[in-house]
Amino acid sequence: MNILKIAHRGAKAYEPENTLQAFQKALDLHSDGIELDVHLSADGHIIVMHDETIDKMTNGKGDINTYTLAELKSFLIADEFQIPTLNEVFDLVNKKCFINVELKNADTSNNVVSLIEKYIAEKDWNYGHFIISSFDWNALKEVQNLNPNIPIGVLTEENIDTALAFAETIKAKAIHPDFQLLNKENVSKIQEKGFFVFPWTVNSEEDIQKVKSYQVNGIISDNPDKI
Ligand code: G3P
Ligand code: CA
Repeated sequence: MNILKIAHRGAKAYEPENTLQAFQKALDLHSDGIELDVHLSADGHIIVMHDETIDKMTNGKGDINTYTLAELKSFLIADEFQIPTLNEVFDLVNKKCFINVELKNADTSNNVVSLIEKYIAEKDWNYGHFIISSFDWNALKEVQNLNPNIPIGVLTEENIDTALAFAETIKAKAIHPDFQLLNKENVSKIQEKGFFVFPWTVNSEEDIQKVKSYQVNGIISDNPDKI
């Protein structure tokens, strides 16, 4: 079985996470997909960053949702890179792999769904180019209500059975579990119910071999070249 290589926050092991450089590196490594995290700016742009503040990654401080896009662009990551927007990442990727958008807040659902619909309507993308995931299952319910065609991944770090039950109610495409929750039996159980299994964040050779032996459908990793 072909196991999909999904680059976590871009190829985070090689470039600063969630930057255009990290996503380009993921493409250079022939990743099948990239994973990224989103928040909204004060003026409603979709900002690609893991934390809700810019403190860890940039030379600035404060919450992303208190800055406009123009203000956010003035802060630098690793002294040289700008914080990307989601549409900048879409344009860079340009259908070369699929994009796993992780909603960090429920308030991003509407904007992300609209942007995906725009790329499908105007730029010849299709639903297979996207999967939206979140630990906030209300955000996923909202995505399903807004557009049931968008593939959904149910993130969990707690309980596979609860995630599986929820995935059935919203007709998700995949379960995205913390890889430490998995074993051969529960992977088969998830797949028998019709869902893909995309565990995160699997980085060491040993862990990658272990989840591969469970025959998961894809692996989210900082170093997708090792999969
Ligand atoms: O999407 C899987 C993984 O990215 C979830 O954890 O903290 O890296 O966003 P985190
Ligand atoms: Ca993430």
